[in-house]
Amino acid sequence: MTSVSAITIRRARTSDVPGIRALVAPLAQERILVAKEAVAYYEALQEFRVAEDADGRIVGCGALHVMWEDLAEVRTLAAHPALRGSGIGHRLLEQLLTDAQDIGVTRVFCLTFEVDFFRRHGFAVMANQSAVDPQVYSELLRSSDEGVAEFLDLARVKPNTLGNTRMIRSF
Ligand SMILES: CC(C)(COP(=O)(O)OP(=O)(O)OC[C@H]1O[C@@H](n2cnc3c(N)ncnc32)[C@H](O)[C@@H]1OP(=O)(O)O)[C@@H](O)C(=O)NCCC(=O)NCCS
Repeated sequence: MTSVSAITIRRARTSDVPGIRALVAPLAQERILVAKEAVAYYEALQEFRVAEDADGRIVGCGALHVMWEDLAEVRTLAAHPALRGSGIGHRLLEQLLTDAQDIGVTRVFCLTFEVDFFRRHGFAVMANQSAVDPQVYSELLRSSDEGVAEFLDLARVKPNTLGNTRMIRSF
């Protein structure tokens, strides 16, 4: 593994999908992140940023999924276990928050065990469902996306969300 200073953050390319899946697989097995089929990563590719080391290896990833006019979710944020605590997660998250602002999103949601990490990046624990008004809530119910269901705290995704904390940050 090369030095952290040589790591770059960039948009994901289709050829990064195996590297992203390799990062996510062990975390999905531990139920920290949600496991997805390969096709789901290709379909969501344009949401992803990756961290690449000097040898071209994918050592981090993260995605921004838009849910509504003002609302998006940071998902699948991961840093290679051997490089944790060296700022990769921070750089990826900052980039995703910049991406959010660039496209007009004013609130970003996440569902995580990493409460302190997200708190340091301006996120606060969500007290209740009031983050969306009843009309938007009913529109969001039409989504088939699991992350939206987790945001809404629907019963059918409770097993995915057990022990996770729902957090949100506004700009
Ligand atoms: C959450 C996660 C992405 C953070 O990645 P990371 O690269 O270890 O994060 P960072 O190094 O930027 O920050 C971690 C800590 O290292 C410290 N740190 C050390 N060197 C640092 C540097 N150069 N720059 C920034 N922070 C640094 C920070 O203080 C930070 O402390 P905190 O967690 O209390 O805020 C990583 O722990 C991970 O992959 N977790 C599993 C997946 C997951 O839970 N994802 C979140 C849900 S989507």
